[in-house]
Amino acid sequence: MRDYKIAPSILSADFARLGEEVDNVLAAGADIVHFDVMDNHYVPNLTIGPLVCEALRKHGVKADIDVHLMVKPVDRIIPDFAKAGATYITFHPEASEHIDRSLSLVRDSGCKSGLVFNPATPLDYLDYVMDKVDMILLMSVNPGFGGQSFISSSLPKLREARRLIEKSGRDIRLEIDGGVKVDNIRQIAEAGADTFVAGSAIFGAGRTSDAHRYDTVVKAM
Ligand code: DX5
Ligand code: ZN
Repeated sequence: MRDYKIAPSILSADFARLGEEVDNVLAAGADIVHFDVMDNHYVPNLTIGPLVCEALRKHGVKADIDVHLMVKPVDRIIPDFAKAGATYITFHPEASEHIDRSLSLVRDSGCKSGLVFNPATPLDYLDYVMDKVDMILLMSVNPGFGGQSFISSSLPKLREARRLIEKSGRDIRLEIDGGVKVDNIRQIAEAGADTFVAGSAIFGAGRTSDAHRYDTVVKAM
């Protein structure tokens, strides 16, 4: 069985009680904290930066923090997130002038690196950088907002990404982000994902113990 991980997106959390919300999902079985950074430029929404990441570490969060950068440019914010305690830093290739350089910057800053693919972005960007990524993140919605519906073309794309990972022989996580729910997570796992971002489905109902339901479904596979 794959090493499945659940990564609740704090985009849908109650920001007035963020520390408590994160503690609850981790206690309920979540593995990774998914941290959505939006700049109102690359995507039409504005969220949180390194200060909030640092605050979660100071609050005592020990789990991996998966920083998903939806910002342009990407390079100047990478070292700040590394200092703030990020574990993974992923970015969209369209938002970087020099993808190879940005990936190296992430690793040189001491973090694990990853590329993020919008629903209509081809996987070709991976062709010459498979040895520089620790994670491939496929967006199954257009980035910018939580609560959207899963785009079904993400399933064949996941299969293709899984094939590329296997061909490379490298230890690369395959993460899916957008519209993940209890009723589609099994199908998504079967298509090859091993890391599941879920925002509104976990925090939206106001019951952060829902992280446990996702953990149970996927780990029962
Ligand atoms: C969208 C973000 C997602 C989002 C997922 O741009 O990258 O992480 O929060 O939210 P749900 O799970 O509600 O689709
Ligand atoms: Zn995200």
